[in-house]
Amino acid sequence: MPNVVVVGTQWGDEGKGRVVDLIAEKVDLVVRYQGGNNAGHTIVTNGKSIVLHHLPSGILRDDKVSLIGNGVVIDPKILLEEIEALKKSGYSVSPDNLIISDKVHVIMPYHKMIDISRENLAGNNKIGTTGRGIGPVYEDKYGRRGIKLSDLVNPDTFSKRLKTVLNERNLYLTKVLGSGPVDFDEVYNEYTQYGKELKPYMGDVSKILFDSINSDKDILFEGAQGTLLDIDFGTYPYVTSSNAGSGGVCVGTGVAPKSIDYVVGVTKAYTTRVGEGPFPSEETGEIEQRLREEGGEYGATTGRSRRCGWLDVVALKYAIRVNGISAFALTKLDVLSGFDTVKICTAYKCNGSLINEFPGSTEVLENCKPVYEEMDGWSEELTDIKDFDELPENAKKFILRVEELTGVPTWLVSIGPSREMYFELRELYS
Ligand code: GDP
Ligand code: IMO
Ligand code: MG
Repeated sequence: MPNVVVVGTQWGDEGKGRVVDLIAEKVDLVVRYQGGNNAGHTIVTNGKSIVLHHLPSGILRDDKVSLIGNGVVIDPKILLEEIEALKKSGYSVSPDNLIISDKVHVIMPYHKMIDISRENLAGNNKIGTTGRGIGPVYEDKYGRRGIKLSDLVNPDTFSKRLKTVLNERNLYLTKVLGSGPVDFDEVYNEYTQYGKELKPYMGDVSKILFDSINSDKDILFEGAQGTLLDIDFGTYPYVTSSNAGSGGVCVGTGVAPKSIDYVVGVTKAYTTRVGEGPFPSEETGEIEQRLREEGGEYGATTGRSRRCGWLDVVALKYAIRVNGISAFALTKLDVLSGFDTVKICTAYKCNGSLINEFPGSTEVLENCKPVYEEMDGWSEELTDIKDFDELPENAKKFILRVEELTGVPTWLVSIGPSREMYFELRELYS
């Protein structure tokens, strides 16, 4: 059976959690491979909305094993709170169904302080981060001064590493950023306790996945953020600090490329973005307002208003290329009900020329204006629809046009936030 990656094809919040929750039913293991609690993945089941920041979206299904791969960064306090909150809501979370790689890097208090101070200092040039310490923790990982979960559970190693790191980080915090310092004892004691609580969950994720693949188990790799926020392929520097695209799976979990069979691209029927950075098909005024209100476009992590605009096929084709998208999960089609016309951005006008390729340079993208195809809209609500044939004609045309423009088939159409509000156009993996 295939192993599948679920990635966001836009700037995040495409509905990955909702789609992962659906596919999770068909697989044995669900694995996060990058990002941290900058992610907010929403699943609505039995009228209750659950937002997961750290835990894979398979955790809501009792018979699945959830894993957090080495490419993820964890804020142990938030992770432990998330585990407790789920248990209180009646979900089972234990070392039997949750395994966290011993190699994950730990978000420390100074990472959050650095993230927030830098954003404040940058003023108009800020990235608009979630303030969760994501950039600084990955920076320390690649700068070889990070603290891993395996360090937290080893008091001597943790003490040595923290002392060395704090010597330098406290200088940076106090002399450069004008905040801190961070007290060694306080952090050491608090994080040693977190280490104790997380130790039972710690494991060798790569080995578990290897063994699972060899015994024909099915694996779902859950992306966080979106392709256009990927550190390498996103709209740098307005990106996150990890490889959100499907390429992140191997390095973020320790599986071989040959083990990945299928890539689902979760694509919102329009586009949103949180934080700063270019967004060619962004709308302002009434249309943005309407998309935001109808789509509930407020951040699942920070509560910030999401910027909204029309579907951008130039960016989508780029996401298809860099991820190897096999099929779409098209989400939030219901939100487009009631617009007289709906638009699809099919090219950009940039410094007088027409371009069809997503530009590599963010400065070029900043000067791109969208070229639209405008289609007639539909007024019917879609939420109860169970089959493609039941859709209003213009909604059908919208889906078919996206497939035609991109050459990628649609597997699933989501027409509401609840688990059951979707229909399939074809079988997954077909
Ligand atoms: P993620 O980060 O990609 O998992 O997405 P988020 O959870 O941050 O944002 C998606 C939001 O849209 C959540 O509030 C979902 O409950 C909601 N949602 C997902 N699919 C649909 C859909 O098809 N229609 C509507 N109306 N809402 C949806
Ligand atoms: P999910 O998984 C939307 C954005 C932030 C900011 C940039 C960098 O829910 O789709 P960071 O804190 O990562 O350094 O912020 O990335 N961002 C997201 N936007 N959805 C997310 O996650 C995001 N995670 C980070 O708003 O622009
Ligand atoms: Mg989200």
